[in-house]
Amino acid sequence: MALYNDTVMEHFMNPRNVGEIENPDGKGVYGSPVCGDMMLITLSVDENEVITDAKFKTFGCGSAIASSSMATELIKGMTVEKALEVSNEKIVEELGGLPAVKIHCSMLAEHAIKNAIYDYAKTHGKEYAGLEGYDPDAEHHDDCDEDESGCSGCGNVQ
Ligand code: FES
Repeated sequence: MALYNDTVMEHFMNPRNVGEIENPDGKGVYGSPVCGDMMLITLSVDENEVITDAKFKTFGCGSAIASSSMATELIKGMTVEKALEVSNEKIVEELGGLPAVKIHCSMLAEHAIKNAIYDYAKTHGKEYAGLEGYDPDAEHHDDCDEDESGCSGCGNVQ
């Protein structure tokens, strides 16, 4: 059986929304604690708090590229509030699945989006329930249940 399904391969071969928005309303970078790869997300947000554009650049693997391509497609047209609900599980589901060892790559997209929204909220004086207690610099988050076998939340395998 092929390691990657057709949807993942298609987004990897023809990634959507690659690049960087000039003068973005929100900008977020996230580095994976698992593999050290990096993701940059930039957002344009209109006066109704709707994400009108999202772009990504990544120093990451094919799964990170496919995840970011899918994630940026998903959040375009969403309100900022709704976009905060897009989890890596949702991204993986929309991709039709990723191999278990590659799940952490989808976290790059989720966290970079959250960091970009955090930046938008900070620079535009907005508050969102989805960002309550969120620390953009934390490698692990409140829901992290890391033990000696790693963190199932962020996929950090020791
Ligand atoms: Fe680093 Fe996929 S993002 S291995």
